[in-house]
Amino acid sequence: MAFTAMFGPMAAGVIDEDKLMTNELRPGIHWVGAVEWSLRHFHGHELSITRGTSYNAYLIKDGDAVALIDTVKATHAAAFVRDLEKLVSIDQITHIIVCHAEPDHSGALPEIVKRAPKATVYCDRGGATTINRHYPGLTSPQIVKTGEVLKLGKRSLRFFEAQMLHWPDSMFAYCPEEEILFSNDAFGQHYASSSRFADEVDQAELWQEAMKYFANILTPYSGQIVKKVNEFLGMKWPIGMICPSHGQIWRKDVTKIVEKYVEWSSGKAEQSVVLLFDTIWHGTEKMAMAIVRGLDAEGIPYKIFNAGVSDFNDVNTEILRSHGLLIGSPTLNNNLMPTIAPFLESIRGLRFVNKIGAAFGTYGWSGEGCKRIEEIMTLGGIKIVQPNLRINYAPSDEELTKCIQFGRDFAAHLKEG
Ligand code: FEO
Repeated sequence: MAFTAMFGPMAAGVIDEDKLMTNELRPGIHWVGAVEWSLRHFHGHELSITRGTSYNAYLIKDGDAVALIDTVKATHAAAFVRDLEKLVSIDQITHIIVCHAEPDHSGALPEIVKRAPKATVYCDRGGATTINRHYPGLTSPQIVKTGEVLKLGKRSLRFFEAQMLHWPDSMFAYCPEEEILFSNDAFGQHYASSSRFADEVDQAELWQEAMKYFANILTPYSGQIVKKVNEFLGMKWPIGMICPSHGQIWRKDVTKIVEKYVEWSSGKAEQSVVLLFDTIWHGTEKMAMAIVRGLDAEGIPYKIFNAGVSDFNDVNTEILRSHGLLIGSPTLNNNLMPTIAPFLESIRGLRFVNKIGAAFGTYGWSGEGCKRIEEIMTLGGIKIVQPNLRINYAPSDEELTKCIQFGRDFAAHLKEG
């Protein structure tokens, strides 16, 4: 049934598009992004996002200066131009700040540059390369460094090179007069919402998405992140609001997300276990259930994931949260189960910090599965803390007792820290 048939003609003013798409954060400072409710995969199909996302850009109108910080994905360029025009004539834009030129933030840049002939584009060293590779001949950006200041009207923007949060071209822009940090991808979440602010949304959803985002996007750069975040904190720039390029804006208790980044990148985790397995005729599954009895007996919490029906991005989030990782696979074709392989490849690339692990599984006649798991976990930086447990075909009662002990032994390693 059509909307008008259900509710009658829409009253004037029922939908205030200006309010909906150009939220004013402070006088003259606007969120001007796009919300993509239906997106379920990012980076091609590599990253699952169950709650959609947003592409946050920001506009500062300050006297004669009009600064645009980032843009949106190319598919939203037309709507972005339309929404911007409600706030300012685009040809009046004087400064375009490209904090990060990955196409989800720079996709609309060509449309804006075309319409803003007097604007100068600013980016860091890495950004110049990225812009020129994605949009050859578009612009000759002005490269800025940490501490450099761009004077607007009554306000200004300071820059901070934030390499590897999460690309070589990643920088922050900071407005000292408003104590607002424009952090681009850092501190974001893939989380579509009618709200713009973190304090207005469901907190469990918010933190789950913030953690999933860190686990799957930022984890490989943990070493650089902990240094960069501490370097940034060392600048002692007061922060009243953090405006990331995805998801919700932090304006209350803003240091919490920064502290979480330090915690996550330094490998601080709960004394708990992620157990990931797949099974052919339930032998490895029986092993898994016996192993967690051993964890239970030692008071260690755990979460179990069957690789055949689980999402590896969600499992990565739980791995970030937990200190221990147990992976079980039967041997199949002299190898591990193909369903386990993408999880392991993802773990290898993410290189989690400060994790311990062990492998288990059944086998018929060759038995390479556990060894393959250990090899890939080791390549991913996970410390194998005890010999693997292999059982021929199907576990007997006596062997299930060994599985319980395997769980107890792993719990002991976990308690050692
Ligand atoms: Fe949201 Fe690295 O792009």
